[in-house]
Amino acid sequence: MTLGDAVQALTLDVHLGPDDMAAALRSDARKGLTSSPKQLQPRWFYDEVGCSLFDRITCLDEYYLTRRERQILVNHADDIAVATGADTLVELGSGTSEKTRILLDAFSEAGALQRFVPFDIAEATLRSAAAAVASEYPGTSVHAVVGDFEHHVGLLPHEGLRVVAFLGSTIGNLVPAKRAKLLSEIAGNLDDGESLLLGCDLVKDTHRLVAAYNDAFGVTAAFNLNVLSVLNRELGAGFDPERFAHVACFDTENEWIEMRLRSLEAQTVPVVDLGIEVEFGEGEEMRTEVSTKFRREGVERELDEAGLELRHFWSDEGGDFGLFLAFR
Ligand code: AVJ
Repeated sequence: MTLGDAVQALTLDVHLGPDDMAAALRSDARKGLTSSPKQLQPRWFYDEVGCSLFDRITCLDEYYLTRRERQILVNHADDIAVATGADTLVELGSGTSEKTRILLDAFSEAGALQRFVPFDIAEATLRSAAAAVASEYPGTSVHAVVGDFEHHVGLLPHEGLRVVAFLGSTIGNLVPAKRAKLLSEIAGNLDDGESLLLGCDLVKDTHRLVAAYNDAFGVTAAFNLNVLSVLNRELGAGFDPERFAHVACFDTENEWIEMRLRSLEAQTVPVVDLGIEVEFGEGEEMRTEVSTKFRREGVERELDEAGLELRHFWSDEGGDFGLFLAFR
């Protein structure tokens, strides 16, 4: 294959540019820092440093999610290829498309793989991941889409027979109302016979859950605190990360892990680009992430309410993580 062919096999749609991201950060930060309790959206964790800290999290002993999901994919990728009958793999929040390769391999061995559609908010990561897949899977066209899964799922290209993969329990970052919205938008974009492959972390022993978000090496703490450096750089804020502490706890009522940043003292933090000063009381906590833990029946109900029929559920031996395949 010549370089020219490889380039032709790759297309890119951009629904979201750097200006949109900057505007979204400004509006989220203004809203979240002036509300009570304060909160920030977890999407702002993922600058370059945040992405590499997250990669390190996925290798931690305590953070079982990535290993369990990978194991389920390894064990069942062939079943998934057969059950979906798809020739097009769409992946929401694909990042570096690492786990995706397990699926891509199974689909291409089944002789079915025509097309890969990685969809991500981060254009640079997406471009390099898309180029890598295009060169590793000759004969597969790659149609990368830069977008935000909370806004642009309706713009996914209709090409081939698709399975949309949304892995890693990223859906757990959304509160129930936003999950319902996303799932119905996905259902609305799917044509008859197309499917959604959803990875969800499952409810389990609270100590293991909390440890997964409060590891011994402090990598998760650094990941959480890094959002303050993002605000400093992008919005001219004056956060001193040393004056905040990482907090992770399990909310048993909502069945989600909440990550927060606790102000270690009373302090006033300027956010120059927003023209505001933010007051923190001593011990005040700002929510930075919810990470929902699911039950099989709950996911089935949410899928059903969105108009998706659950046909397959796969888990690991210990029942730590679930992979749900639902059809339109
Ligand atoms: C990538 C959203 C699935 O919620 O487990 C890891 C992010 N936060 N450690 C998760 C995360 C803290 C992760 N997701």
